[in-house]
Amino acid sequence: MRGKFIVLEGLDRSGKSTQVDRLIQRLEQDGPARLQKFPDRTTSIGKMIDAYLQSKTEMDDRAIHLLFSANRWECSKRIREDIAKGITVVADRYAFSGIAFSAAKGLPFDYCLAPDEGLPLPDVVINLSLSPEDAAKRGQYGEEKYETLDMQERTRAQFKLVAREMERRHPGRWKDVDAAGSVEEVGERIRQVVGVEVDTELGQLWM
Ligand code: TMP
Ligand code: MG
Repeated sequence: MRGKFIVLEGLDRSGKSTQVDRLIQRLEQDGPARLQKFPDRTTSIGKMIDAYLQSKTEMDDRAIHLLFSANRWECSKRIREDIAKGITVVADRYAFSGIAFSAAKGLPFDYCLAPDEGLPLPDVVINLSLSPEDAAKRGQYGEEKYETLDMQERTRAQFKLVAREMERRHPGRWKDVDAAGSVEEVGERIRQVVGVEVDTELGQLWM
């Protein structure tokens, strides 16, 4: 039996990384599972992305958009292989962040979507949604490029369009999960949506 491909999405401070770790621990009780972070900053493309996010280098908006996508493509072979072996892969961000953040900077939505076409299709996308008020209670943003209130609000609006596109192209896979509340409460909400039955074959994104 193949592993599942589960993606967690959400804005900064939505509790995504905490929940990804908890989810993997729980999945490992039933079988092998591993984390795949995007961007994967360990590869040579990932190092360029890291330098950009830390404002150590400047880059054209389209160039960095394509690098984020290339970073997913270079990891996609291993994702497919692991899933075929029965390993469940949990991604912390994926193509949906790629679209939402770049479209928030003003790049055309369809342009943002195109380079990821054909990547492994997640069986389920858990979008941790948090109101601007609740997000603000969680403290200040960090130091990285997109961690400003203005950028996060524009990205939040784009995530709604991404959700709509996903529902149109791959119905039933996008799950909005309320990220307000305790770590345990949010974890329980996630537990209820990851138990989905999956198709025999892993699909292809946007196809
Ligand atoms: P991280 O904080 O999860 O490591 O992500 C770093 C930043 O990169 C975050 O602000 C979201 C952004 N991002 C994109 O702009 N495009 C992408 O394709 C991905 C995966 C992340
Ligand atoms: Mg971050």
